[in-house]
Amino acid sequence: MISFEGRTAVITGAGGGIGGATARRFFDAGANLVLTDVAEEGVAALATELDASGARVATTVQDARRPDDADAVAALAKERFGKVDTLVTGAGFFPQVSVPEMTDDQWHEVIGINLDGVLFTARAMIPLMPAGSSMVHIASLAGHRGTAEHAHYGAAKAGVLGLSRSLAHELAPSNIRVNAVSPGIIDTPMVNDLMRQRGDFILAATPLARLGTPDEVACAIAFLASDLASFITAETLHVNGGYYVGS
Ligand SMILES: NC(=O)c1ccc[n+]([C@@H]2O[C@H](COP(=O)([O-])OP(=O)(O)OC[C@H]3O[C@@H](n4cnc5c(N)ncnc54)[C@H](O)[C@@H]3O)[C@@H](O)[C@H]2O)c1
Repeated sequence: MISFEGRTAVITGAGGGIGGATARRFFDAGANLVLTDVAEEGVAALATELDASGARVATTVQDARRPDDADAVAALAKERFGKVDTLVTGAGFFPQVSVPEMTDDQWHEVIGINLDGVLFTARAMIPLMPAGSSMVHIASLAGHRGTAEHAHYGAAKAGVLGLSRSLAHELAPSNIRVNAVSPGIIDTPMVNDLMRQRGDFILAATPLARLGTPDEVACAIAFLASDLASFITAETLHVNGGYYVGS
């Protein structure tokens, strides 16, 4: 049984499917939470559901593209809980457009949310992270295999994998671990369009023949953030029902 008693987790994109499931799992394991999202309603509702008193859960609006928002999240975490033991970067955006039709603004928006946001948030949290703490960045199968009509997203997620490994090198002397999880196709609103268009193909190519649940990704994140993974850093854990090797 994993315990995060006395620890603080900052989770971005916490209003979403995977971020929300991660928040629930960490809360149930005893963690204090700082939950952020660009959309206020989702995190506010989750915080009320988890802890109406607000004693163990703080929320704030964070646009992952804005470095000053990341700094404000760090200030909130410091003020409320004094330190950050786990950072989970879950904010993400997965729009569909082919490369010939992609505008510069579309490229920059997707890189900004999915990659810049990880750097900005990680950079802001490092001064608050004690020895023994860790980061888990949510990448994607798209960052390994690529995916048609989501080149900006695939590039951003491949960047997250490289950033995670580089951070793992930099932070190892401080005994801060940095890992990534790469979900396959997980049952959240993010993949509704994809499943409408290619669902049959995806399920046929997935050995376990179903979508993953947000909590199945949250379990992988909790493991990597826990002391059970104390000698694991610069690693990527795939959560995809075998889709990576499926035909
Ligand atoms: N669902 C999948 O199949 C899948 C697969 C691989 C990777 N992922 C990744 O998992 C993470 C969580 O995705 P999800 O499936 O829970 O999707 P989701 O759409 O349910 O959640 C994404 C969250 O990110 C937030 N967000 C969007 N733009 C933002 C911004 N500018 N700043 C801050 N937050 C912003 C959204 O408001 C939303 O709450 C993402 O990083 C996503 O890329 C998901």
